[in-house]
Amino acid sequence: MLKILVINGPNLNMLGKREPGIYGSQSLKDLENGIMEASEKLGVEIKCFQSNYEGALLDEIHQAADNGFEGIIMNPGAFTHYSIALRDAISSIDLPVIEVHISNVHAREEFRKHSVTAPVSIGQISGFGFYGYEMALHAMKEYLKGREV
Ligand code: DQA
Repeated sequence: MLKILVINGPNLNMLGKREPGIYGSQSLKDLENGIMEASEKLGVEIKCFQSNYEGALLDEIHQAADNGFEGIIMNPGAFTHYSIALRDAISSIDLPVIEVHISNVHAREEFRKHSVTAPVSIGQISGFGFYGYEMALHAMKEYLKGREV
């Protein structure tokens, strides 16, 4: 079974409490339960990981392949906009990464329009709320199918 790692970065543990007008009223647990349900329907195995710490995110990315994952779906939160370390971590592994944002980052403040991680990802999904993670699961499954020889 395909194994995909789902990573949420800083402040995403605050979902439900944090700016509900932008991010909705559901919690990280709700998000992870929804992703889990979607993955079962798709026949994909997933692990969800969240951290507010850049180094912890880097460690998880570095170890992903050794832990048996074939792709990563990641919402890097604010690190999207400035973490060269996160970008380099993505570049340093041989796994496809799909970047997800709950909000439409292109319709918000100027600084959110720039992503340092999107150019090293296979694609970006932004603005579809929690459903974006499910979209990413479908996209990753299709992408990995295309890679099979
Ligand atoms: C976010 C958008 C980022 O700009 C912000 O810093 C976040 C959440 C999103 O999911 O819409 O923390 O990644």
